[in-house]
Amino acid sequence: MKAIILSGGRGTRLRPLTYTGAKQLVPVANKPILWYGVEDLVAAGITDIGIIISPETGAEVKAKTGDGERFGAQISYILQEEPAGLAHAVKVAQPFLQDSPFVMYLGDHLVQSDLNAFLDEFKTKHLDALTLLCEVPNPTAFGVAVMDDRGRVLKLVEKPKLPPSNLALVGIYLFDATIHQAIAQIQPSARGELEITDAIQYLIDQDRRVEARKIQGWWLDTGKKDVLLEANRVILDTCLVGEIRGEVDDTSQIIGRVSIGAGSTIKKSTIRVKVAIG
Ligand code: TTP
Repeated sequence: MKAIILSGGRGTRLRPLTYTGAKQLVPVANKPILWYGVEDLVAAGITDIGIIISPETGAEVKAKTGDGERFGAQISYILQEEPAGLAHAVKVAQPFLQDSPFVMYLGDHLVQSDLNAFLDEFKTKHLDALTLLCEVPNPTAFGVAVMDDRGRVLKLVEKPKLPPSNLALVGIYLFDATIHQAIAQIQPSARGELEITDAIQYLIDQDRRVEARKIQGWWLDTGKKDVLLEANRVILDTCLVGEIRGEVDDTSQIIGRVSIGAGSTIKKSTIRVKVAIG
């Protein structure tokens, strides 16, 4: 099993931050968003990872993230010349993926979910595609799946006016090699992109085995400002480990779960719960 993480794109919704840098490198609780995805994949035993990069921010992503050694993974970088859609990114990754099944992970998404159970199910049921879903209060803003009671996907609808369910597509997908044939058949959408939802719909129409599972826990698409701020709060709330690796002087007090990074010095201060200082 391989994985690709999509870290190209335009990032228009996160301007002006994305005028000067990659949105996937914006730190959440002092760690680039992209790295959470790498760590999730490695925790699920996937270490052969390709990161899709753009000409504008690729060098920065590569320099910061490296060859994967720090994660116990092997990272390859795949240049997508233009952000022509999620399915287009899979297309340019095909020489890396070859015929391997793979996880596709959107590089600006954060998910509180262990991928192991989904990988097991994907393999044992010999599925062609497994998409992950999350219950949302506002399904009109997302891609939404219509499923039967056995978890099979009947239809995908983008930003439905009358949502058929409240289950939004999370930015994590598991595919086998048949997705490449599907992508070869689809045409660019009205916004000029090769859409992964169209490729999945093609698989459904061909009676391939496409299923979906609901994740437990939270999911955040950090491509927008408010969600990015929310992500900091959620990660500090659920993932922060209290650890003092810097120096704290005698006049300072650290109260509760606080992480102080190596090289930081705290003087004449009181720091209370849920703070990460780099
Ligand atoms: P999006 O957030 O859907 O697209 P975007 O990055 O172009 O953002 P905006 O709509 O604000 O302009 O992309 C989801 C993830 O996939 C994100 O990490 C960027 C990445 N991506 C690619 O790598 N290649 C692509 O062609 C596209 C569209 C996105």
